[in-house]
Amino acid sequence: MCGIVGYIGKTHAYPILIKGLKRLEYRGYDSAGVAMINDNGNLNVYKAKGKVADLEAYCEDKDTSGCVGIAHTRWATHGEPNSANAHPHYSASGRLALIHNGIIENYLTVKEKLVGRGIAFKSVTDSEVLIQLIEYIMQSNNLELLEAVQVALHQVIGAYAIAILDREHPDTIICARQSSPLVVGLGSDGAYYIASDASPIAEYTDKVVYLNDGDIAVLQPGHDLRVVNMDNETQHPNVKQIDVTLGQLEKGGYPYFMLKEIFEQPSCLRDCMRGRISVEGYHITLSAVIDYRDKLINARRIIIVACGTSWHAGLIGKQLFESLCRTPVEVEYASEFRYRDPVLYPDDVVVAISQSGETADTLAAIELARKAGAFVFGICNAIGASIPRLTQTGVYIHVGPEIGVASTKAFTGQVIVLSMLALCLANERHTISDEKYKEMVAELIRIPEKMEKALKTNEQIERLAPIFTYAKNCLYLGRGYNYPVALEGALKLKEISYIHAEGYPAAEMKHGPIALIDSEMPVFVIATRDKLYEKVISNIQEVRARGGRVTALVTEGDEQIRKFADHVIELPDTIECFQPLIASIPLQLLAYHIAVCKGKDVDRPRNLAKSVTVE
Ligand code: F6R
Repeated sequence: MCGIVGYIGKTHAYPILIKGLKRLEYRGYDSAGVAMINDNGNLNVYKAKGKVADLEAYCEDKDTSGCVGIAHTRWATHGEPNSANAHPHYSASGRLALIHNGIIENYLTVKEKLVGRGIAFKSVTDSEVLIQLIEYIMQSNNLELLEAVQVALHQVIGAYAIAILDREHPDTIICARQSSPLVVGLGSDGAYYIASDASPIAEYTDKVVYLNDGDIAVLQPGHDLRVVNMDNETQHPNVKQIDVTLGQLEKGGYPYFMLKEIFEQPSCLRDCMRGRISVEGYHITLSAVIDYRDKLINARRIIIVACGTSWHAGLIGKQLFESLCRTPVEVEYASEFRYRDPVLYPDDVVVAISQSGETADTLAAIELARKAGAFVFGICNAIGASIPRLTQTGVYIHVGPEIGVASTKAFTGQVIVLSMLALCLANERHTISDEKYKEMVAELIRIPEKMEKALKTNEQIERLAPIFTYAKNCLYLGRGYNYPVALEGALKLKEISYIHAEGYPAAEMKHGPIALIDSEMPVFVIATRDKLYEKVISNIQEVRARGGRVTALVTEGDEQIRKFADHVIELPDTIECFQPLIASIPLQLLAYHIAVCKGKDVDRPRNLAKSVTVE
């Protein structure tokens, strides 16, 4: 949820920290702060409520010198967003400063003990408790910082990625990770970078170490990276090469990342399929299926666990696996699954879907599934994140970094991976004919081109958007494969324009939501030509009969719905099960343009964070 950046080397740390915070701002943006040790050995901490730009303005007349620093962008969990609760937090003596992403669950018990020993707190956060505890242990036992961190981490329960500065040791940053992501970048000049994900590091180095749970890293420029655990046992870090271009991290001429990411979808999906689909033979090869063929094709059941948009992709996955592979599928909210007592069999395959690969509830669901002996398959975007490391195997969606908080290209990337996986397994299980398999693979290859056509609706949607800005509520209706598209369309609108929206299976509407329909409520219906087309037409008539205003997404050339819908948006035709890949595009654009018309900050919607690393 929060974003962490750090630098230690030979150059001015502050610009690197601010730039890094901007790249991580999607993770949280209610307050931000920075700490540097200057050449005189002063540890300066500056914090501001609001966005990174507010921090930058605040720091304009401050001493931001120094070649070592840490910085943080916050998404509040404990304590309101203000500068006192923002990070970094000083220790009581002012010698140490800490940034933290995660939650210290037993912070109140620890705090009570420290208050009892006369330590005064400046914030109401769980994070400050950790730095006060570390300093208290250091002073009362006469320990070095690393030793005190090891003792303190034994005493806290919860999730953390932390980084600490010590003004007595300006040549060192100590950082640690438990259930919250932390990446260390190795600069070619001996410098070190740290961040919550690789995006702030990518422009300086392509060599990174993803810390594991329990790791404590000691960063000293010019020295080898030292990683130990809480018991001071040496760990052996694995240096990985990352492949993120600067262009992928910039807006590339678009006003918002979200719009850039919507328009990137055709090329992202081509990247996702590249090397996996043979254009000549119309055949799909997924290495995970080669490696674990028997496990996957003999699955008694597939259980999909995910949150938010990834859960919507999972609902599409269910229909794909059931209809193509004839394997029963359940789709679970990870947050519910983890606290139920689900029945799991060793021959179940649990598919965890996550863009960030760091969602706390999805991680906990994986842990539960693995403990129960199920085989866990991950579908993830962020390379090297926790989910791909905790699952037995999986498939990356390879759509590049998604910066906009509202997920767009990751959703279609997840759906295309689920489509490839379902087709691959169906082919292995012989549950579809060879002819149908090849026909569907050929259609998958054409999808990016059809998405390009669907993106041409952008201007029409931009013109329509102002009509809907005054709506208080909207209804999104779809059936079959288009029902999750309706859910996703409604979620996009809620997230960035703050208009209440509901996604509903079109036929269910008459069991309740129909009571809401009047001329004030826009109803968006996904009414593409498929086997439920006639039924959806009847549902549109039911809305019209109650004075509802209908905007319909239809297959190009459809003249029937045009007669009674207020607006129609035409989309290229495709096989029914791939329709979500096309139909979700105008709904993403609609949410985007409505939010822009309402003057909202599309990339940084209020209260949301890109990576939900707390439950
Ligand atoms: C919606 C959105 C969220 C995420 C959800 C899961 O636009 O982005 O609903 O889909 O927080 O995140 P991941 O996929 O990273 O596990």
